[in-house]
Amino acid sequence: MKVLITGATGLVGSALVSSLRADGISVHYLTTRKGKISQEADYRGFFWDPSQNQIDPECFLGVTHIVNLAGASIAKRWTPAYRAEIQNSRTDSLQTLYKGLSSLELHTVEYLVSASAIGIYPDSLSHYYTETCTETASGFLGETVEKWERAAREFDALGIRRGILRIGLVLSVKGGALPQIIRPIRWGLGAPLGSGQQWQSWIHLHDLVRLIRFSLEESLEGVFNAVAPNPVTNKKLTQEVAATLGKPLWMPGVPAWGLKLVLGEMASLLLASQRVSSEKIEMEGFTFRYANIHQALQALLT
Ligand SMILES: NC(=O)c1ccc[n+]([C@@H]2O[C@H](COP(=O)([O-])OP(=O)(O)OC[C@H]3O[C@@H](n4cnc5c(N)ncnc54)[C@H](OP(=O)(O)O)[C@@H]3O)[C@@H](O)[C@H]2O)c1
Repeated sequence: MKVLITGATGLVGSALVSSLRADGISVHYLTTRKGKISQEADYRGFFWDPSQNQIDPECFLGVTHIVNLAGASIAKRWTPAYRAEIQNSRTDSLQTLYKGLSSLELHTVEYLVSASAIGIYPDSLSHYYTETCTETASGFLGETVEKWERAAREFDALGIRRGILRIGLVLSVKGGALPQIIRPIRWGLGAPLGSGQQWQSWIHLHDLVRLIRFSLEESLEGVFNAVAPNPVTNKKLTQEVAATLGKPLWMPGVPAWGLKLVLGEMASLLLASQRVSSEKIEMEGFTFRYANIHQALQALLT
């Protein structure tokens, strides 16, 4: 197996690269930053610019599997220009890969797995979402994820097996949401967000890397939720983080209107509720190391 990764320099990508390289699996990766290009034999970087459909065809040399993780961060203020970047960076990345591959006379790629997000599911306190759900969240995030998945499905026309992973809140101390959740709690200023009743479907970074590798090894086709088996409410998550850090929680919840005032539409990231099932991937034979939030936080924070 030789794997081409986009978004390899990010939180998930760098953990995936370490895991693959530790097992002697050769990695090619595409980066938008020329300063991040490595020329090591088993870890070779290639510059690309998805906004211009620019890609180096050499990146596909000997590659059998592709992992697509690229996309502009959603954790920055959603100005109109940045919304376009969030959306276009995802669709352009897949389209650039598609054009690059289809322009080759011959290639060795058998399988592609693309990141997606549970933000595709409508906001609900009561629904328990499986991959069979056909409804899509209204609003910017739902629309973005729908376009992202549509671009990934295009690869079916190339005769490549294709998987889509709807990733939940990735828990890691190195980046993503957890360090932001921890900070006010460490200062003694932690509190649930909004009602605190919204469901947060999370996954430990280590399990996500294992799940991506599982999908590569099994060439899993179709859509799979990439979340741990036991989602928690925002209140429970906040309480568990505080308890793990040995910090008190005394503040009342941060009101939803306050978050919307400060963050604008981006507040929906923190307030939306998606209780998502992991059953389908477990039925494929995947087992989670971190199934419960208590266990995951103990491993991450102590
Ligand atoms: N972390 C989470 O909680 C979470 C949850 C659900 C879904 N996801 C999705 O999973 C994927 C990986 O997440 P992550 O947390 O590892 O993200 P990340 O740390 O933000 O990394 C994403 C990578 O995408 C590349 N990138 C950034 N802007 C780009 C642009 N305009 N065009 C093309 N590439 C660009 C960057 O690589 P270069 O600078 O090397 O080009 C960056 O390292 C993302 O698509 C994310 O939306 C993440």
